[in-house]
Amino acid sequence: MIETITILGGCGKSGDPEPLKEIDLKNGDVVSIVGPTGSGKTMLINDIELFAYGDTPTKRRILINGDEVPEEIRNNPHNNPIALITQHTTFLSDLPVCDFLDLHAKIRQDGGSYLVERTLDLANQLCGENILPRNRMTELSGGQTRALLIADAVVIGNSPIILLDEVENAGIYKERALKILKEYQKMMVFVTHDPVITLFSDFRIVMRNGSMKQVIKTTEKEKAAAEELKRLDNLLMGLREKIRSGATIELKDVIA
Ligand SMILES: Nc1ncnc2c1ncn2[C@@H]1O[C@H](COP(=O)(O)OP(=O)(O)OP(=O)(O)O)[C@@H](O)[C@H]1O
Ligand SMILES: [Mg+2]
Repeated sequence: MIETITILGGCGKSGDPEPLKEIDLKNGDVVSIVGPTGSGKTMLINDIELFAYGDTPTKRRILINGDEVPEEIRNNPHNNPIALITQHTTFLSDLPVCDFLDLHAKIRQDGGSYLVERTLDLANQLCGENILPRNRMTELSGGQTRALLIADAVVIGNSPIILLDEVENAGIYKERALKILKEYQKMMVFVTHDPVITLFSDFRIVMRNGSMKQVIKTTEKEKAAAEELKRLDNLLMGLREKIRSGATIELKDVIA
């Protein structure tokens, strides 16, 4: 059972030691990684995914439950507790969605058909366009793909740690996704530029020039602001949908 992941600081792009020496991520934590382009956000989640142990350019080390990552986790993909979902996922498989999930359910768990149903159900709650069991994997849109991968990691993979690299622009219902995913008590790490995701996280890691610079715990004031922000975000989502469907926009549609 994984209770904590510890990131031990290494060095930034310039080779100087990172300002933050140690960060603990706990079960149930929702964490954002923020920072300018090129500041090392993707690098940081890649270090987590690889269970870096001084063997990546950052020299960071990852501990599980305070200890070095056991060999059986490091070397056996079957036991891998981490699911990384990136923007660049493409499928080699052209199987129908239901067959792909069924195969995965047989590898990771008992293969029961309820797993496929639950996964599809969750994916369709996360994403605006319905995914049908007979859709082929390669014909899914970006948003459908990400929603399916998240649902697959949660339900079939049963992964305790889910890393997401900038998935917000992919037609995912952010707020609903955060709410549903929180119920699963996973450790979730979002690389994000999105203020809604950031302010709904428990804390955020601020990256600068390849280094972990600061940890900011979301304040009560920020949480209150996030509620207001949600309204604005929903307004924007609604406008996006309207424009997509070919409608025209009037001034009254834009006033929050
Ligand atoms: N600590 C580090 N030491 C050495 N190289 C680093 C370090 N951190 C990041 N890099 C390198 O810097 C480059 C940019 O990092 P990365 O892709 O992680 O940035 P990012 O914050 O994800 O940017 P974007 O927002 O554009 O996706 C990469 O080539 C990465 O390998
Ligand atoms: Mg990146």
